[in-house]
Amino acid sequence: MGGLLLRLLLAGLLGCLASGALGGDGQVVPWQVADAGREAFSRPMAGLAEAERERFFRGRSLFNQSWVVAPAKDDRLDGLGPLYNRLACVSCHARNGRGLPPESPGERMQSMLLRLSVPGVGPRGGPRPHPVYGDQFNEEAIPGVMPEGRAELRWLESRRRLPDGSVVSLRRPRLSFRELGYGAIGQVRISPRVGQQVVGMGLLDAVPDATLEALAAEAKPDGVKGRVNRIGSEPRELGRFGHKANMSSLRAQIAGAFLGDLGITSTLHRQENCTSVQAACRRALTGGEPELDDAQLDDVEFYLAHLAVPARRQVALPQVQQGEVLFARVGCASCHRPALRTGDSPRFPGLAGVDIAPYTDLLIHDMGPGLSDGRPDFQASGREWRTPPLWGIGLAGLISERARYLHDGRARSLTEAVLWHGGEASMARRRFEALARREREALLAFLESL
Ligand code: HEC
Ligand code: HEC
Repeated sequence: MGGLLLRLLLAGLLGCLASGALGGDGQVVPWQVADAGREAFSRPMAGLAEAERERFFRGRSLFNQSWVVAPAKDDRLDGLGPLYNRLACVSCHARNGRGLPPESPGERMQSMLLRLSVPGVGPRGGPRPHPVYGDQFNEEAIPGVMPEGRAELRWLESRRRLPDGSVVSLRRPRLSFRELGYGAIGQVRISPRVGQQVVGMGLLDAVPDATLEALAAEAKPDGVKGRVNRIGSEPRELGRFGHKANMSSLRAQIAGAFLGDLGITSTLHRQENCTSVQAACRRALTGGEPELDDAQLDDVEFYLAHLAVPARRQVALPQVQQGEVLFARVGCASCHRPALRTGDSPRFPGLAGVDIAPYTDLLIHDMGPGLSDGRPDFQASGREWRTPPLWGIGLAGLISERARYLHDGRARSLTEAVLWHGGEASMARRRFEALARREREALLAFLESL
């Protein structure tokens, strides 16, 4: 791995000569891939050695394949459930992109999940799971085990008129439950979340904790603050993955997803996710202890760590360049940071010391009551969300079936996404609203170029 950066650079250079994979400023950027097609989120970074590419593709098959109920012929791939949401990682991260919420109440949650909790503090200082339904609503179960039920999502529409006269329709979700498998759910805090895009994960993982702490401490204009989420027991770990930065590392995020979303145990989570009252769930046969071995976890981690980020497009267009200036001027870049640098990367040394353009600070921000889910998640309040990286966002509608934005996929356009910004982002939003139509279009063209 030691020489990976050099190899990345060389291969990036060669790749550029062949395919024109140049960064926004014309520099060679080895972590990017010059692909603006439907598979743009599925490419390995340039410069992986043969053995690393093999590992990447092993990880990819584990991410894409459907897990099966134990016992099965191939005991490496069994252990699904007993309770789960989907059969595969890729079900909620199609083509490694983001998930979508249901459009109407009759539609199933395909790539969205609900986090649950009740007031109080739970394991490792996190949210306290619902005593019966746990910390995530599982709509599916293996034969012989009762699924938890069905969640139904309805949209409430409202309208906003901008100073230039244009009207934008906004919607927010309302949730209810049907066919509950384990009795009334009672008072419960619910956080609906769609799957996130998973490109560039290794780079975000390698941004030093100290950088995030420095960003949080920095004085910022417009009342923007931003802080790190802290998780676990002393010394608390710094959170950076998930919509509320409630996971400290890529490895923890992956193992958490295997357990919570597929019901697959690992050395990080040895217990199946059954609550004490879910008796059949506790009795069900397992697919091994643990079901996912460390070598498999390593492969999935390697895969996600080395998924390249698509290179920007249309960077030379005057409209896009004007939009980039406006993005900084109205204050978007206070949170959506255009430049970060990775530090040491003990697991993947090749990802160390790389300049990246993720358009995030990885901090959580108070985004106002409009986006609040009313559910604290470690140190993050209901109103606080992690700034999502905007790299690749211009391809969201191509990679997924539809373009949907924000943690619950409520926004159907980039404009809607920005209009939901409140709290610390209020000033930036107001300036965005006050832009002349052509300026707003330029800013949106810049976002589409990312
Ligand atoms: C049921 C849908 C669903 C499935 C299945 C699923 N995910 Fe996710 N994924 C999500 C959601 C929702 C989030 C955001 C989680 C949060 O905010 O708590 C997420 C977040 C992530 C992230 C963090 C991205 C970021 O920018 O912070 C990674 C990495 C990830 N998932 C990997 C996986 C892996 C690996 C699997 C398979 C083991 C998987 N996911 C299966 C829905 C899903
Ligand atoms: C105070 C910090 C902050 C500022 C300032 C800010 N944002 Fe955001 N932005 C966020 C957070 C946090 C979210 C995620 C909110 C959510 O999911 O509910 C977000 C989400 C978005 C999204 C949706 C991303 C996705 O993956 O779905 C877009 C697009 C976006 N912001 C653009 C902008 C633009 C354009 C501006 C300037 C007008 C701006 N933001 C200013 C913090 C900020």
